[in-house]
Amino acid sequence: MPDDAIAAHALAKRYGRIGALQDLTLRVARGECLGFLGPNGAGKSTAVKMLVGLVRPTGGAAEVLGKPVGDRATRARIGYLPELFRYPDWLAAREVLAFHARLLRLRDAARAIDTVLDEVGLRERAGDRVGTYSKGMQQRLGLAVALLGAPEIVFLDEPTSALDPVGRSDVRALIERLRARGTTVFLNSHLLGEVERVCDRVCVVDRGRVVAQGTVEALTGATRGVRVRLDDGWREFDCAPAEIPDVIARLVREGARIHAVEPNQTTLEDRFLALVAHA
Ligand SMILES: Nc1ncnc2c1ncn2[C@@H]1O[C@H](COP(=O)(O)OP(=O)(O)O)[C@@H](O)[C@H]1O
Ligand SMILES: [Mg+2]
Repeated sequence: MPDDAIAAHALAKRYGRIGALQDLTLRVARGECLGFLGPNGAGKSTAVKMLVGLVRPTGGAAEVLGKPVGDRATRARIGYLPELFRYPDWLAAREVLAFHARLLRLRDAARAIDTVLDEVGLRERAGDRVGTYSKGMQQRLGLAVALLGAPEIVFLDEPTSALDPVGRSDVRALIERLRARGTTVFLNSHLLGEVERVCDRVCVVDRGRVVAQGTVEALTGATRGVRVRLDDGWREFDCAPAEIPDVIARLVREGARIHAVEPNQTTLEDRFLALVAHA
């Protein structure tokens, strides 16, 4: 489909005897935020490297922004934050960005650089050397490089693994801004809460294979029962979702004071653990 940002068909990668990724069939619409989930070694980074054209598939095919993966002209329209990267210690952040701006042949480089520095909150330290940066700041710089030139699609490979809770929430806000702007986001993560909050759709991989795909709601969904906190603590009531108001009304009639009500809900984490539970 012309509107697909990503269309992969039976995409596969072998490293000798290791099937790093097998049979990935996937579509991501433009403007969508996809959470690509899986335990360590599942094949997430391999998938992203193939989609950005760094690793050659050994099977299947994929298109990004309507062009076969690896297409050179398309690369300038793609942003990529690798899982592991390191910029030279002796370069200032602004120099790193200037180098990438040249690679992208950006016209108004100075402005584009300021834009991404603001976006990731590094403007004040942009003249300092990378060697003086904390891990979190280096990660922000990686994000700034990925966002340089306002790419149409951004691949983020574990963007928050080096970040503290504040940094994580900043990255979440950033992803939300990208989405609001219509940028397609492909988010590799094993942090489920994060994916649950920002992604429209989720693809779960395990040992090189897709084990589930769908919207977060479809994968989780409400289940039976409700937890209610009364004066003396939490109590569980078994009921269908539609019966929750009746349960609460009855408790109030009986004179209970209600402090909190939580419908039982399968979290993405529950579902994920069930999907990737190994023998
Ligand atoms: N360059 C490589 N050479 C050999 N094996 C690799 C290479 N890259 C990844 N693998 C293997 O492929 C599998 C998937 O790795 P990876 O895509 O990095 O997983 P994830 O990102 O989900 O943690 C792992 O078993 C890993 O050891
Ligand atoms: Mg990885």
